[in-house]
Amino acid sequence: MENSDTVVKDDRRQIRRIFYLARGRHRTITPPIDLASGSILMQALLNTAVKAARKGGETALRQINRLHQLQVQSKAHNNFVTQVDIAAERAIIESISERYPDHAFLAEESGQHGDGDYVWIIDPLDGTTNFIHGFPVFAVSIALRIKGKLQVGVVYDPNRQEIFTAMRGQGAQVDGRRIRVSGRRGLDGALIGTGFPYDCEEDMAHYLKMLESVLKNTAGIRRPGAAAIDLAYVAAGRLDGFWEFGLHEWDLAAGSLIIREAGGLISELNGHGDYMQSGNVVAGSPKIHDALKKLLTPHLP
Ligand code: IPD
Ligand code: CA
Ligand code: CA
Repeated sequence: MENSDTVVKDDRRQIRRIFYLARGRHRTITPPIDLASGSILMQALLNTAVKAARKGGETALRQINRLHQLQVQSKAHNNFVTQVDIAAERAIIESISERYPDHAFLAEESGQHGDGDYVWIIDPLDGTTNFIHGFPVFAVSIALRIKGKLQVGVVYDPNRQEIFTAMRGQGAQVDGRRIRVSGRRGLDGALIGTGFPYDCEEDMAHYLKMLESVLKNTAGIRRPGAAAIDLAYVAAGRLDGFWEFGLHEWDLAAGSLIIREAGGLISELNGHGDYMQSGNVVAGSPKIHDALKKLLTPHLP
C-alpha cells in the first residue's frame, strides 16, 4: 500500500508534468501589454483566475463529507498538507495553463514553475487545519503578478460560495458587487482579525501582549483560520483590521490587492521592509491600519 508521503511526492511531480506538457503543446505567447490600457486582457486574466479558483474550491468541497479518508501530512509543526491541497493545486494550475501555457507559477505545494513576466501566485487551500476538522472556513487564493506588480486577485470561499475579486486600478468586488473597507474612525468598537503564530515557542510573550492590548481597546478579536478570508473580510468591511506574523506570499498576494483596491492599507508590521517577504502584516482602512499599528508597535519583539 502506498504511504501518504509517496502519494504527495507523486502528485507534485504530476503537477510539474501538467505545466511542462501545457508549455510544449501550445506555442501561444501572451502578448506584451501596456498595463494601463490592457483592461480587456486584464478582464480575461481575471476570468481565468475566477474559473480556476472555482475548480480548486470544488475539489475541496467534494472531499468535505469524506474527511475520514484524508491523508494528512505534517510539513512543519502545526502546518499540514493533504491530498486535497495537492489535487486543488493541480486543478488550478491545469486550468490556468490551458489558457496561458507560457505563464509561470508560484504555488504553495509545488513551488515555482517556469519564469517570465506573468507569475500566478496560488494557495490552493488556505485554512487546511480548518478543512481537516471539517470547520467550514477555508478558501482558494489566486493572484497574478505581471512584471513584479500584482494585477489580479481572487479569493474564493467555497462554503459561502463568495468570490472576492480585484484588478489593479479597478476596485474590488464580492460576487460582482463593489466593496469598501470599513468606515470606522477609530479602534473603539472595532472588530479585528488575527492569526495565531504556528510556532508557539517563538515570540509568544510578545504576541500575547498584543492580544491583550487589542482586546482592551476594541470590540473584539476573531481568528477564523484562513488568512485569505481574513484579508477579504477587511476589504469588505466585515473586519475593521487585521494583523498576523509569518504569512507567505500565497496567503497574502490576492488579499492584499483586494484590500488596496477596496481603499484599505496593508503594510509591514515592523515598519520597514517588504511585507510580502517578511509575512508580518497589519491591515485595515487607513485610519484603523494606523491606529492598530500604533497599538501593536510597542509590543514587537
Ligand atoms: C494558514 C492560514 C492561517 C494562518 C497561517 C497560514 P494554510 O494557511 O491562512 O489562517 O494563520 O499562518 O499558513 O497553511 O492553511 O494554507
Ligand atoms: Ca495559506
Ligand atoms: Ca494552503
